[in-house]
Amino acid sequence: MSSTDPGQRVPTFASLSSFLSGRRPAADRQAEVRTRVQTPETTSPEPTATEAAPAPGRFEGSAVATGIEATANGSAATASSAVAPAVDEQPAEAPTPAPPAVVSSPAIAAGSVPGSGVAAAAGPQSSDESTPLARQLANENRRRERLKAKDVKRPPATRYLTVSNQKGGVGKTTTAVNIAAALARAGLNVLVVDIDPQGNASTALGIPHSADVDSIYDVLLDDVPLADVLVPCPDVDNLLCAPATIHLAGAEIELVSLVAREQRLRRALDQYETHRADTGQERLDYVIIDCPPSLGLLTVNAFVAAREVVIPIQCEYYALEGLSQLLNNISMIQKHLNSSLEVSTILLTMYDGRTNLAAQVAAEVREHFPHQVLDAVIPRSVRISEAPSYQQTVITYDPSSSGALSYQEAATEINERASA
Ligand SMILES: Nc1ncnc2c1ncn2[C@@H]1O[C@H](COP(=O)(O)OP(=O)(O)O)[C@@H](O)[C@H]1O
Ligand SMILES: [Mg+2]
Repeated sequence: MSSTDPGQRVPTFASLSSFLSGRRPAADRQAEVRTRVQTPETTSPEPTATEAAPAPGRFEGSAVATGIEATANGSAATASSAVAPAVDEQPAEAPTPAPPAVVSSPAIAAGSVPGSGVAAAAGPQSSDESTPLARQLANENRRRERLKAKDVKRPPATRYLTVSNQKGGVGKTTTAVNIAAALARAGLNVLVVDIDPQGNASTALGIPHSADVDSIYDVLLDDVPLADVLVPCPDVDNLLCAPATIHLAGAEIELVSLVAREQRLRRALDQYETHRADTGQERLDYVIIDCPPSLGLLTVNAFVAAREVVIPIQCEYYALEGLSQLLNNISMIQKHLNSSLEVSTILLTMYDGRTNLAAQVAAEVREHFPHQVLDAVIPRSVRISEAPSYQQTVITYDPSSSGALSYQEAATEINERASA
């Protein structure tokens, strides 16, 4: 750890307004370059806890800490949440008795994690909260307890969310599938519509999406009923997925010549709701659309079909660039195609608690969007990034991880805003 004052090593973060107006101060660009070549200064552990079996209508969780999760670069990061502000590891109201820890991360088990005193600290002594890890464990246990205590109520009407951001790699798909899985596991009826030709959401939900599969392409281009292409997620009850195949890659162009090209997804969803009612099925509680990283016709279809936009913002310097373009597009859609569309939710993703930059980005976004930004913040986490390679969400892949906890918190918050 360097003796340099962390405050001097991180650039003054350019105000969001300069991004929104398309300007970016040169001084900040230079400062950013300096920042990018420097090692993050602070580290904080990201322990996890094992959970009890899910209770219907509740999010899972347990105060029993038995695992430790490594983060992306083999170290550990801290998450903030609805109950724990972004860079806060303070609270120690009531020491939580912690049972013996089990090291669940191969990286940690192999001793490759810096400061793997972490493993030892996860043991019984964590109850005194005298170390950062012990505080982190206790903090997560409190968050789990609070989550467990919450009732997950069905929204008064189906909520249509589109997870959009024309930047790639900001966590759109991860957010769509994990929020969906968290809500479905809490007992709500959820449909994920994958309209990204890459089909990442389909992959994460364990849904086949090879070229020969009936998909959302057939719905949008050939008027195939949505009900005919839906597949239940094998790992989560109440969760359906409309898969995307590679054919969608041509859909942007093919849609251009079709009648009502911007309305096709909305019509398909409306017909599907009617179909559910006619066949005696419960109504959907959530439709969550995973968008491609572009502002083309597929995304326009999502904006027309949805009532709410969820924007994941990666806690990195570049993350805010392009936001003004996205917001402009949304206001164009509001004016011309869907007056009921609103940006209801902004979710900070890939938060790395070791960097001041992440905290600055988070603070900046909160300042400009105080009502939209969720209290829950998604940490950068290896478990989250590993899950898709097992065709899973982190909610099913490692329910005890802090990534799963954070997505459950985010889902709870979104659901609590049911009046949005
Ligand atoms: N919180 C996170 N921590 C670590 N890796 C993440 C996290 N969220 C997403 N990722 C990984 O980052 C990559 C991009 O995420 P993804 O959700 O596919 O973004 P998008 O859909 O916006 O392109 C994926 O490999 C994903 O597994
Ligand atoms: Mg994606």
